[in-house]
Amino acid sequence: MNRARKLKLLLWAIIGLAAPVAMARFFFGLGAATNLSDANPWGLWIGFDVLSGVALAAGGFIVTATVYIFRLERYHAVVRPAVLTAFLGYVAVAVGLLFDLGLPWNIWHMLVFWNPRSPLFEVGWCVMLYLTVLTLEFLPVPAESFPRLAKVRVRLVRLRLPLVIAGIGLSTLHQSSLGSLFLIMPYRLHPLWYSPLLPVLFLVSAIGLGLLMVTFESHFSGWLYRRQPETQLLSGFGKAARWVLLLYLVLRAADLAARGALSAAFVISDWRAWIFWLEIIFGAALPVVLLSLPRVLSTRPGQWTAASLGIFGIVLNRINTGGLAHLGRGERFYLPALSEVLISMAVVSAAALVFLFMIERFNVWERRPEDPEADPLHPPAFDPVGATWLGSPAVAGRTLYSMGFVAAAAFGFAFLAAPPEASQGFEPAPARRALGGEILFIDGNRNGYGTRFAHDQHAERLGGKASCGRCHHANLPRDRNSACAECHRDMYQASDAFRHAWHASPAGARLACAECHPRGQLRLASTAKRCESCHKDPKPAGVVIPVKRYQAPGYVLAMHTLCIDCHAQTAAQKDKPELARCANCHQGTLPPGLPAPAAWRPRSDAARVVVPIRNQR
Ligand code: HEC
Ligand code: HEC
Ligand code: HEC
Ligand code: HEC
Ligand code: HEC
Ligand code: HEC
Repeated sequence: MNRARKLKLLLWAIIGLAAPVAMARFFFGLGAATNLSDANPWGLWIGFDVLSGVALAAGGFIVTATVYIFRLERYHAVVRPAVLTAFLGYVAVAVGLLFDLGLPWNIWHMLVFWNPRSPLFEVGWCVMLYLTVLTLEFLPVPAESFPRLAKVRVRLVRLRLPLVIAGIGLSTLHQSSLGSLFLIMPYRLHPLWYSPLLPVLFLVSAIGLGLLMVTFESHFSGWLYRRQPETQLLSGFGKAARWVLLLYLVLRAADLAARGALSAAFVISDWRAWIFWLEIIFGAALPVVLLSLPRVLSTRPGQWTAASLGIFGIVLNRINTGGLAHLGRGERFYLPALSEVLISMAVVSAAALVFLFMIERFNVWERRPEDPEADPLHPPAFDPVGATWLGSPAVAGRTLYSMGFVAAAAFGFAFLAAPPEASQGFEPAPARRALGGEILFIDGNRNGYGTRFAHDQHAERLGGKASCGRCHHANLPRDRNSACAECHRDMYQASDAFRHAWHASPAGARLACAECHPRGQLRLASTAKRCESCHKDPKPAGVVIPVKRYQAPGYVLAMHTLCIDCHAQTAAQKDKPELARCANCHQGTLPPGLPAPAAWRPRSDAARVVVPIRNQR
């Protein structure tokens, strides 16, 4: 098999693998298909599909500006592929967004219900308009092959300059406004990334990335179709990329120094410092050094290496800014689910397939590659019966791809996450008072299945008025025997009990950042003012469930930890093993489909002895 064929088979297989997962996402929702949560709502899809997709498309406006505005005609050879990449990049962004939006069918709302104050509004409109411009810019290329479209083509070609200018305007606006998006979340983004300069940094790095991307593409398709890449031309881009990335490095360093955040980069114990260095070294420092060496600048392997490193680094920057660097506050790590990774890969694969299709069908490069499907010497070799069995080589190619897709899709079902938990998507509700007021019926997700809990009897047995602190924390602001579900908001997921954004917002507590984060110091958990200094209500010592962080574990976990820990201890002391058994609290069998409480880990050894959790069901 030739290279193009192998690659296409691989791409189809990736799409096949992701197809069942993608369906699951739309049938069962984001909760079932991703590791996103209320605490970490932005993850790989925003960082990679959207932010990186847009940045990778930057080559389009840079090359059109070079050729049509600055009139550097010799770069004409790379205009078409660059515009095509930009177009496909933006289509991929739109598709990726449909996966990430909770209610994708409402995407048209943006057109009708205007909210001009929202950065997302600007981003949305820019994407739409730019996509239209790119379509019109690229259309003349396929139109060449259809004589009936000749008139349209001529008109579009005449419109080229205005289109190019509109494209440049829209994409500069848009590249930078993706940075502005993060200006409104200073308390989410780690100080190494948060900066008032974000829009500028995004624009500058996108320009660098665009230049590297054009280089990468030329070499890649050169390798794939054994075509001579434009090495000579591309060294011009390499030089330009070197200066742009150098500017980016200087801006980034100056910005960190000016904000006093430079020290955060040297906190070895913080993993965020490591990913920061990773993106700086690969995304800027190494490419700048490499592209300054004439030997690298003018050779094929050199250009290819420098471009790949730079692309990796800047894409990492977008992933960090878009999700990873938000993680500090929650202290709950987010790693993309396999399904998220698969869907991202499939979106890229689909774009790549369209790209290859366009290259093979139309005059995207100056010279079209030999038709790789008509490769009589190397028919697809996978079937033992012989190539004739599959028909002509072109048909054989299609058969091969379909087989790849279907076989991979069969495997894809293996990656489906467990069936959506019965609870997800339900509003957790506080215990319902039932049966005369003193017995609570605890049923957090209102699925009808719950636990009877003799509240007042427990309180009495455990010491009357003094007992409350054994189960209610009472050491968090506003926690005076509150319903547990006020903070343990999700049935199985942790949720944030300290509403940080609310404290700083004018609609909430109206506090300036400096009220809690001393001036001149980094804004970190360790340096923030303690809750007690403003909230006098937390009761001091004596409570049994301490609160050190603000990430409240899921409702079931909290209940189990509370109820079973004490029951296990009592069971051991009083020799009443039945106290800690499931059946003591859960009458009848558990309804099917509920996850076993695997997340519950016994705190004391006593509990571990009495309740062998995994064997009990
Ligand atoms: C000391 C009491 C107690 C014991 C012992 C106990 N649980 Fe629970 N469990 C609870 C409470 C309280 C809830 C919360 C009920 C609710 O919100 O529906 C709960 C919830 C659950 C849920 C989720 C129910 C739902 O509606 O989604 C499952 C599943 C569960 N427990 C399994 C077990 C298993 C298995 C065991 C034995 C290993 C066990 N529990 C032992 C008190 C207990
Ligand atoms: C054995 C543990 C335990 C003890 C001791 C205890 N509580 Fe509770 N309390 C609970 C649980 C569990 C709930 C259920 C809350 C929920 O699911 O939201 C509850 C609920 C409540 C509620 C109802 C909250 C609501 O709106 O749903 C009040 C009020 C309350 N407790 C007050 C007290 C007081 C006052 C004391 C001390 C005299 C006390 N509790 C002692 C465990 C306990
Ligand atoms: C005001 C918010 C708030 C309320 C109300 C609240 N919790 Fe919590 N809870 C938290 C937070 C935050 C944590 C995490 C503490 C930590 O890890 O430092 C926590 C942790 C816990 C833990 C420890 C879990 C573990 O893994 O060690 C238990 C048990 C618990 N809560 C039970 C309850 C029960 C039972 C109620 C209701 C009677 C309740 N909580 C009400 C905020 C709250
Ligand atoms: C009510 C006090 C308060 C106010 C007001 C406040 N913060 Fe915070 N901030 C905190 C606390 C407490 C933490 C640690 C929270 C945690 O660990 O969950 C924190 C954490 C942070 C972090 C995360 C650091 C990390 O480790 O990831 C950043 C960034 C931050 N704040 C920025 C801001 C900015 C910007 C403002 C103003 C818009 C602000 N904060 C207003 C109390 C506050
Ligand atoms: C600089 C002072 C300040 C600090 C520090 C502070 N708060 Fe607050 N908090 C406020 C003010 C002001 C309000 C709003 C006034 C009110 O309702 O009491 C508020 C309201 C709240 C509320 C009720 C509103 C809501 O979110 O439901 C909670 C809960 C709360 N704070 C939790 C915390 C926790 C947890 C911490 C520590 C991480 C903390 N606060 C630190 C000033 C502060
Ligand atoms: C601090 C300790 C403690 C906690 C926390 C606790 N229990 Fe108990 N529970 C007891 C004791 C002690 C008994 C009585 C044992 C005996 O029979 O002497 C008991 C008995 C029970 C019984 C048996 C029926 C009865 O009322 O005698 C049930 C059911 C029960 N608890 C449910 C729960 C549930 C549900 C929770 C969590 C919401 C919980 N318990 C939390 C200590 C605790």
